[in-house]
Amino acid sequence: MMKTYVWTLPTRIFHALLVIFVISAFISSEWDKYLTLHVAFGSAIGVLVIYRVIWGFIGPKYSKFSDFNLSIYPLKEYIFSMFNPKKEYVGHNPAAGYTMVAILIVLLLLIITGFLTYGIQENRGVFAFLHSSYFREMELFEEIHEFLGGLLYLLIGAHIAGVLFDKLLHSKRGTLESIVKGYKNIEGEDTKLSFLQILLSIIGIGLSIYVLIYILSVKDNPVTLGYNEVIDYKKENTLFVDECASCHTLYPPSLLPKKSWNIMMADLENHFGDDASLESEDAQNILRYLLNNSAEDSTSEASVNILKTLENKDTIAITQTPFWKSRHKDIDKKYFESEKVKTKANCKSCHMDVEKGLIEDGNIKMPELGS
Ligand code: HEC
Ligand code: HEC
Repeated sequence: MMKTYVWTLPTRIFHALLVIFVISAFISSEWDKYLTLHVAFGSAIGVLVIYRVIWGFIGPKYSKFSDFNLSIYPLKEYIFSMFNPKKEYVGHNPAAGYTMVAILIVLLLLIITGFLTYGIQENRGVFAFLHSSYFREMELFEEIHEFLGGLLYLLIGAHIAGVLFDKLLHSKRGTLESIVKGYKNIEGEDTKLSFLQILLSIIGIGLSIYVLIYILSVKDNPVTLGYNEVIDYKKENTLFVDECASCHTLYPPSLLPKKSWNIMMADLENHFGDDASLESEDAQNILRYLLNNSAEDSTSEASVNILKTLENKDTIAITQTPFWKSRHKDIDKKYFESEKVKTKANCKSCHMDVEKGLIEDGNIKMPELGS
């Protein structure tokens, strides 16, 4: 049977890495604490996609966009004669060509919106400079990013369906196997690589693996570097630390709005079942500090979301805010009841940097559950 070498080694390695990286990026997006991993995979995908776009212009015959049959007529003809094709395509058929281009475009947009969300929401990475101007819109960017993620699911679904369909209809052609072996059982011209193409592939594929390892192993690299500043509460207001961290975690003033602090500080005698009363002068001093640093004056993700979801309610417990509840609803109750944590309000048992005014995704460490 005749055979044609369609997918060269770089094309197949690109495909395999893309599959692995995209699955890894999807999985790591599920948990805040793996955000750095998610960003690292996203960056590696970004490099792969750029390489693939260049490959689409100067790569081998069947990998070129000009071989993708990107016009309306071939697509129509292909769709209407799907069960009885008039023409055999060695590389991509028109439907596949369109799907590939759509996948590349959606991936590119995912990377861009991902970095925008990361910069605006987390104040990290190359777009961190946009954080202070656009923090109110942080949700919007995340929603666009997630929408594109959904779109990618659909396109990948279409791609897999197309390949399986081909397997069913023309199993002898070996389209499915070709992405591993490189060959299709079809008549055509074998592909060959030029020196320049080999060089480009080594650089492109090598760079994407390098970027992944670099982001995960080099601390304070420009891709994930954070710009949220550590707050030294002791230096800013010693009284606040002495009085408000004696029974529990020092809650950053930015985690509740002015209204909540006013209500809480007006009744310290009945403070969650404890008497936390203070000299009136000290209470005034602390209240002033809380009001000057409340959620309304913070650009952090937690503050913005607490304010937005709390609306104008009288809640004075951070753990009663809808945002707090929604972010912790998937955590096993066992953690909160464990010996090390005891109460939901014990933030510092999981958020290592909360008493420095930060709640960074990368600094969430779940305590070990004793048996
Ligand atoms: C005498 C001990 C005591 C002192 C002093 C004290 N608190 Fe509390 N505070 C508590 C207890 C007990 C709770 C309830 C914790 C829980 O739900 O497990 C609490 C809860 C809170 C919460 C809500 C936590 C949540 O569930 O989201 C905030 C906010 C808070 N305190 C702020 C303050 C501030 C501000 C000060 C200083 C003015 C202060 N506390 C001083 C005992 C104290
Ligand atoms: C038992 C451990 C634990 C305790 C206690 C805890 N948290 Fe969390 N918190 C987590 C985990 C885990 C996540 C991430 C959830 C996820 O991956 O979606 C989280 C997420 C958050 C987030 C969202 C972060 C983001 O970037 O979206 C905020 C804000 C937060 N916690 C604040 C608090 C505060 C304030 C307290 C104390 C009143 C607290 N947490 C107590 C484990 C804990």
